[in-house]
Amino acid sequence: MSSSTRHGRRSFGLCSGLIAILCLNEIALDVMVAAVAYYTEKPSWLPSCRIYEPGFTKCSTNSVQKLLDQMNSGIPEVVESFGPFDPMRVRDIVFKQDNNEVATIRANLTELVVKGFAKTKVKESRVSKKDFSWQTKIYLPKMRLDGKYQMAGRILLIPLSGSGNIFIEIEDLDILLITKTQLYEKGGFTFDNVTSVRVQLKLSRVHTELDNLFNGRSPEVERSTNQFFNDNWRDFYEALKPLIVETVENILYDVMSKVFHLIPANFFVEDIPTPQELYGSKLAAGSDSGSNSMPN
Ligand SMILES: *[C@@H]1O[C@H](CO)[C@@H](O)[C@H](O)[C@H]1NC(C)=O
Ligand SMILES: *[C@@H]1O[C@H](CO)[C@@H](O)[C@H](O)[C@H]1NC(C)=O
Repeated sequence: MSSSTRHGRRSFGLCSGLIAILCLNEIALDVMVAAVAYYTEKPSWLPSCRIYEPGFTKCSTNSVQKLLDQMNSGIPEVVESFGPFDPMRVRDIVFKQDNNEVATIRANLTELVVKGFAKTKVKESRVSKKDFSWQTKIYLPKMRLDGKYQMAGRILLIPLSGSGNIFIEIEDLDILLITKTQLYEKGGFTFDNVTSVRVQLKLSRVHTELDNLFNGRSPEVERSTNQFFNDNWRDFYEALKPLIVETVENILYDVMSKVFHLIPANFFVEDIPTPQELYGSKLAAGSDSGSNSMPN
């Protein structure tokens, strides 16, 4: 599919005109694409759940797993604007960390590609009945980030300045994903507007390699520095943690906002309230409006 057929940009008129065949093809994918850039029919691969019935968390865990599996085989609307899920292109990162004990660095990461999301296991998906935010536990056996870096500063007391290729490989990555959403209405459906994504990471090993670390001036020092980082990977990870966390948050935010503007929340949680029902009753409840926190 060429980028000129990106449905978000295509007008309704085109579909009823010359390229009707193309549109029919897409409707055959169970998706209304041209006039409205979102699903109006529940895709058959997605099991729905009811939050006010017992067993919701188990059901929801399965349904988020099905979503990820489907993303991996390719949801056309997501692939079109986003590219494939695994390996995944990731937007550039400009990173600045000052006055930290272990690292003072400025780094730019570009041409980033992340591998490993295909093997994601969803361990638990909880949805808050209060504000319909989510907490999701996922597990990746391995995540690998490849890209170009430009870096100046120091990590673990080692002065660094260079630019070149970088990879970061993480093993046994447990991600706790804390997602805030606001419900909104579109075409009679309730949708999630993802407003914030926070992650907490647990992992068992980080391996990194930065080439051209000292602008190529000393390959031997470069080798021993990489070795040092990998021998002391826990400290190195702590130093780079804000960067890694931000990367993972960016990825998940981009993916989720895309997906949840596309697929109505009703297809995940059949009995989700309308925004009017949720926010209307919240206002009426008065004293209840102070806290947004998630039950544990
Ligand atoms: C990162 O990029 C910005 C502009 O995009 C630039 O000002 C800065 O010097 C770069 N940092 C490094 C360490 O190369
Ligand atoms: C989603 O939230 C953002 C930030 O709060 C807001 O700017 C945007 O208009 C919202 N989108 C929809 C469709 O509600």
